[in-house]
Amino acid sequence: MTAHGIDSATSRTAPLLSVRDLSVRAGALPLVHGVSFDLEPGTMTALVGESGSGKSLTAQAILGLLDREVYAISGTAMAFQGGALGFDGRRRPKGFHGELTGYVMQDPSSALDPTMTVGRQIAEMFVVHRGMDRRSALREAARMLDLVRIPQAAARIGDYPHQFSGGMKQRVLIAMAVALSPRLLVADEPTTALDVTVQADILALIDDLRRQLQMAVLIITHDFGVVYQCADRVMVMYAGKLVEGGATLQITESGRHPYTRGLIASIPDLDDLDRPVVAIPGQPPRPERSWEGSCAFQPRCSFWVARCAAEPPEMEALDDGALVRCFEWRRVAQERLS
Ligand SMILES: Nc1ncnc2c1ncn2[C@@H]1O[C@H](COP(=O)(O)OP(=O)(O)O)[C@@H](O)[C@H]1O
Ligand SMILES: [Mg+2]
Repeated sequence: MTAHGIDSATSRTAPLLSVRDLSVRAGALPLVHGVSFDLEPGTMTALVGESGSGKSLTAQAILGLLDREVYAISGTAMAFQGGALGFDGRRRPKGFHGELTGYVMQDPSSALDPTMTVGRQIAEMFVVHRGMDRRSALREAARMLDLVRIPQAAARIGDYPHQFSGGMKQRVLIAMAVALSPRLLVADEPTTALDVTVQADILALIDDLRRQLQMAVLIITHDFGVVYQCADRVMVMYAGKLVEGGATLQITESGRHPYTRGLIASIPDLDDLDRPVVAIPGQPPRPERSWEGSCAFQPRCSFWVARCAAEPPEMEALDDGALVRCFEWRRVAQERLS
């Protein structure tokens, strides 16, 4: 096992995507530091952390969508189906967005063209990437709307985006992201803008599509409570670094990073409404502050010792295959989750 791979201890199949030591800076500001993980084919992995922790930048760097005039990206290696791609700062990384990877972006409001029917917008994918004629492309578009369970799909391909509700628009965007049968779907906060009742439907849809299309899903969210029931693995991010990673049960039953514990305590328990919901004290860290000399979570942590304020903890690979970045994880582990 390497200390890098989130999955390396337990993986039996070759990873679909390996990210090693990915860092993103804007000028002198380090925004993402040394992120390493593997994604297994066909699995759902959740990337969780408060707003501002670097989740979207991580995804966009991997997909090759960051503006290289603004961001400096580095990383030792990335591989996708055996092909390696390095971020050496000189070569412009192509990234993986396109046929192999579908992407549902965080702010979907601008993703659909208000002047074009949704059918044409989806059909465009088949015309451009598959060389289909318009009529067959529109038929495929209707099939996609049906796949994402939009009622009366064939009748709705002539409708414009404003004729769809927020949840239905998100389904259209998911249809576009999976239209070319990608091996990986990256969905950045796909349910955040939606009503609570619609959130579960969208998540169930993504999980069904994962199974049906046999694609891996990287789902990004600040709301652990939304995803933990269907994610196979969880990665927790804080201040631009991964701080914990493992199988979902390892995280929810025995999360060993104090921040992870805080995230779990702040999920309302629908089976036990008497259990108090505890917010994590303090504010998320500002990116202007450098954490090179300490643990970024130390100011908000109830487990901290002198060492935490004097040096940054490294990611540690535990015997059960999980990873944690905390000097005091043994003490955290002894305190049972209530
Ligand atoms: N060009 C930039 N200059 C300065 N700070 C930036 C820039 N781009 C992003 N950031 C900051 O980087 C942090 C991480 O951003 P992001 O990945 O979008 O967070 P998340 O998706 O976890 O909410 C945020 O605090 C954001 O304000
Ligand atoms: Mg984001």
